[in-house]
Order: sequence, then structure tokens, then C-alpha cells
Amino acid sequence: MYKGILLAGGAGTRLYPLTSVLSKQLLPVYDKPMIYYPLSTLMLFGIKDILIISTAKDIPNIQRLLGDGSQMGINLAYKVQDAPNGIAEALILGREFVGRDDVCLILGDNIFYMGDQIGGFTSTVSDNPGAVICTYHVPDPQRFGVAQIEEDGLVTSLEEKPKLPKSNLAVTGLYFYKNDAIDKAQRLNPSARGELEITDLNLEYLKEGRLKAFRMVRGTAWLDAGTPDSLIDAALFVQMAEKRQGLKISCIEEIALNRGFISVLQFEKLVSSYKGQGNYKLYLERVLYERKRSA
Ligand code: DAU
Repeated sequence: MYKGILLAGGAGTRLYPLTSVLSKQLLPVYDKPMIYYPLSTLMLFGIKDILIISTAKDIPNIQRLLGDGSQMGINLAYKVQDAPNGIAEALILGREFVGRDDVCLILGDNIFYMGDQIGGFTSTVSDNPGAVICTYHVPDPQRFGVAQIEEDGLVTSLEEKPKLPKSNLAVTGLYFYKNDAIDKAQRLNPSARGELEITDLNLEYLKEGRLKAFRMVRGTAWLDAGTPDSLIDAALFVQMAEKRQGLKISCIEEIALNRGFISVLQFEKLVSSYKGQGNYKLYLERVLYERKRSA
């Protein structure tokens, strides 16, 4: 069983002054806060126990937004990261929460639009030799972790922000680990920039021949909304996809209903507790109407 860790800390300096009061992960991406997107990705993988890690300043706001998750049939716990000591530190901070389970780590500013590919990803994860990373073809790989992959998905090379990338496959901020990742993270040394690097952890698995990659196909989308431009790109993408189909992306209440985390009755109560008659509520009412009609 996988527990989830959603890493939503950091200083958000690249988005200053947008982030001077509000954390990056609470900024709007079109019609919902950024954190809804990674949270919905975890929910789509069927993960219901999730630890949200953020700064002491930002956790109260995130808690006000999402609470303990029970309204969506999930369990949300919270943990403070005192300083941005690196993505891999999330696993160390999550040790108690994860216990003996395996763990899926997702970055709070990563937006995935996988469509039906989520099924293929789930079967890759069910065959996890140690760690499964998720890769996406990009034109500018030097900005990311970069992987080379064999036909069978085994990773043959992995580099963090290389000047001369060996492929166009960026490593996204979604990682599935066996439980031993926590001990491995604990043994890491800080990098030159003083962080426990997630790429260093993944390199440990690569050395052991236990690192697999899933490759997102053409037509899917991966966006990291960490700069003003990528934030607006993400919002425009979501707007376009939602308007065209009349279906929302990363609507956490709808996912909770469709995954059977909550009943139709619980969904109905939740929706009626929302104030006003905004677009989001109207959408949820339509989901409810259609669900009842097809029952
Ligand atoms: O987005 C994918 C990329 O994320 C990967 O391709 C890279 O391999 C990986 O190292 C990472 O690269 P970045 O340099 O973009 O990571 P960044 O420092 O921006 O952190 C990503 C998110 O995690 C950001 O929203 C802030 C949060 N974070 C980061 C650190 C270092 C924390 O909450 N705590 C931290 O200690």
C-alpha cells in the first residue's frame, strides 16, 4: 500500500511578490488553488492517506482550505519543514506517517494531465523494483532532472539539470518508492546547494538496478507552475481543456465521488455546504444531477 506525501513548502522566491503573503501552492491555477492538482493526482492513484508538508507559516492556510480531508473520504495529516533542506527531506519528515508502507511523493507545484494513461502508470507502479519515476518529453531538459530509459523502462542514466542533457526526458515531481527510500534519504549528504537532492536518492536506486521510469505519452500534459510564465501557461491550459469539454480537471470532490471515497449522499451534503452559486459549485451540482440521472 502506498501512502502519499505532498511537498508544498519552499520560499516561492521565483514568484515574489505573489508569494509574499500566500504560499505558492495556494495561488490560483485558473479556477482552483494549485494544491488541488497534485492532491487530485494522488487521489487518482487511489491514495487516501496523505501527509502535506509545508512551512509553519503556510500550514494553517492549507489546513483551512482542506481540513482533515474527511469531507472527501481521505485522511490528511500535516508536518512542518523548518527550512527548504531539499525534496528528499520530505521522506525523512514523513517517516512516522509512512510507517512500514511504501510511499508516493509529489511536488505541490506539479500539474499532471494524464487521461487514460493513469491505468498504465498504475500497472508500472504495481511492479515497482524500488523506485518508479515519471518522465515527460520537454524542449528544455536542462531545467530539470533528465533520464535515459531502456525499452523495458529501466533507467540507465540520470542527471540533475545537466548542461548537456542526454535525452529530452525530464523527471517530473512524482515518485513512487519502496519503504527503504526513507533509510536511503536519511543517509544522503547535502549537495553543493545545501539540499538533500531527490536525484541523489534516485541515483542510489539506479546503482542497484532498481530504478524504473514511466513515460508520459504525447498529448498528455505536465506543467510545473513555479514561475509567473509557467503559472499563466498552466492556467490557460486548464481553462482551455475545461471549456472545451465542459469537464473539470482535478476537481477533488468529483474524484472522491468517482473513486468511491464518498457516497452520493456525502457528496450532496458537501456540495450544499458550499457558499454562493459560483462556477465551481454549479459544476458540482451538475455532476450530482448526472450521477443521480444515471443511477
Ligand atoms: O519539477 C520537477 C523538478 O523538481 C525535477 O525535474 C528535478 O529533478 C527536481 O530536483 C526538482 O527541481 P527544482 O529545482 O525545480 O525543485 P525546486 O527546488 O523548485 O522544488 C520543487 C518544489 O518543492 C517547490 O514547489 C518547492 C518545494 N520544496 C523544495 C525544496 C527544495 C519544498 O517544499 N521543500 C524543499 O526543501
